[in-house]
Amino acid sequence: MAIERTFSIIKPDAVERGLIADILKMITDSGLKIVGMKMLHMDKAKAEGFYAVHKERPFFGELVDYMISGPVVVSCLEGEDAIASYRKLMGATNPAEAEEGTIRKAFGVNLQNNSCHGSDGPDTAKTEVAYFFNEDELVG
Ligand code: PPS
Repeated sequence: MAIERTFSIIKPDAVERGLIADILKMITDSGLKIVGMKMLHMDKAKAEGFYAVHKERPFFGELVDYMISGPVVVSCLEGEDAIASYRKLMGATNPAEAEEGTIRKAFGVNLQNNSCHGSDGPDTAKTEVAYFFNEDELVG
């Protein structure tokens, strides 16, 4: 399997609830390596740009408001099959449907406050990593 990179966000309510370390531990325990990381507070334009693909969806405004409600932790993860592997670790978008052992099962509250985001494919991963990181902010 190929070594890939993917993009992760620990979402505002998970940061607010003090879950950064727990979520990062689940990520590194799964074998994924953190090759870039920062804590930041997005402004509206940054969040709208990030979620532009969802701009026609009814929850877009709420999602953007939520993502700018507090700081987040963004990271670039690297490993074998990293994109699918991180999505598996996150679990279903809706925490109520997430399997045991996943981040969203452990910490997710609802469809919006679901603790984490992960890229859904190779093109998205590339775009999302580049949306938050310059090449010289990634190691390895
Ligand atoms: S997925 O994984 O992209 O197929 O999931 P999807 O259902 O398309 O959801 C995309 C992102 O929108 C968030 N979401 C919502 N936010 C607020 N309210 C409602 N009802 C809602 N439904 C979905 C969901 O958490 C996904 O966020 P990200 O950051 O992409 O994981």
